[in-house]
Amino acid sequence: MEDTLSLKNSFLKESKSATSVAKLQQLRIKYLGKKGLITSKLKALSTISPELRPAYGKVVNEVKVYIEEEINRIESLLKKEEHKKRIVSEAVDITLPGKFTPFGREHPINKVLSEITVIFVSMGFEVEEGPDVELDYYNFEALNMPKDHPAREMQDTFYISEDIVLRTHTSPVQIRVMEKRKPPLKIIAPGKVYRCDADISHTPMFHQVEGFMVDTDVAFSDLKGLLESFIHSFFSAETPVRFRPSFFPFTEPSAEVDIGCIFCSGKGCRVCKNTGWLEILGAGMINPRVFEMVGYNPEIYSGFAFGMGIERMAMLKYSIDDIRLFFENDMRFLKQF
Ligand code: DAH
Repeated sequence: MEDTLSLKNSFLKESKSATSVAKLQQLRIKYLGKKGLITSKLKALSTISPELRPAYGKVVNEVKVYIEEEINRIESLLKKEEHKKRIVSEAVDITLPGKFTPFGREHPINKVLSEITVIFVSMGFEVEEGPDVELDYYNFEALNMPKDHPAREMQDTFYISEDIVLRTHTSPVQIRVMEKRKPPLKIIAPGKVYRCDADISHTPMFHQVEGFMVDTDVAFSDLKGLLESFIHSFFSAETPVRFRPSFFPFTEPSAEVDIGCIFCSGKGCRVCKNTGWLEILGAGMINPRVFEMVGYNPEIYSGFAFGMGIERMAMLKYSIDDIRLFFENDMRFLKQF
């Protein structure tokens, strides 16, 4: 019995140093666990003579209840304290100003690119893409510009190696698509192009949209009708359009397409160099030599192609006078679209 009472005293001493819930839990195991000190006293009851057993049992039980209650009492105190500490350490100052995350928005070039794409898709065109790093063969050769062709000099090319270039235009996508598909085809091919050139109207990287259609009887009048509808939906239904004879190695005949100057309504100004017209794209009937390069019979198939610069379209539509603004990432500029 004395032994049991001294257990109570040693528990009292030890409980003073139980300064955390975890330490208290160890005490609980030490005294009340399956192999605990009190538990073994209870087990030992059976070895005590029946006359002494009730008195002894009563003492052990009282000590057990006492220790249980003490542990529960200390535990709830410790838990309260730990909770208080956590509240202090995890405190958030709700009076601090919040962090402002600005909304992103579409870049004006991507916006114009998707506007143009939507117009052509609504007229039955499919979208195809080609690689930015292109073989000389697709960028020039197959487009009827053999090595030493003077037209190559119109495009200041970035060379990766003798046979590999950064594409100077999106026209190589025509070849790539025609090589793997058969007419009828109505395709547009938007993407980045590269030329070694930089001033207020040129950046070394810019965007173009190529378009072409091939079938058994495509005529120049189809090209005219299509481009006029496109220009009227992109700019306005009143925008004047004119076709001017021109030259491209991959089209014959070739044309450049102008719109009435949107800055002076055709009266003549600095932007249109007093002509009243602004050039916006190149076009023409696909040269039979290009068809031969991709294995199409030019006696059976005809087609047209066109190509336009996206930055130029965006500059005209939104009256932007310096192409470099698109690539400076100045929020004051980008926010306006
Ligand atoms: N590829 C030409 C360029 O970048 C633009 C062009 C002109 C594309 C006439 C065409 C075309 O498809 O028919 O200067």
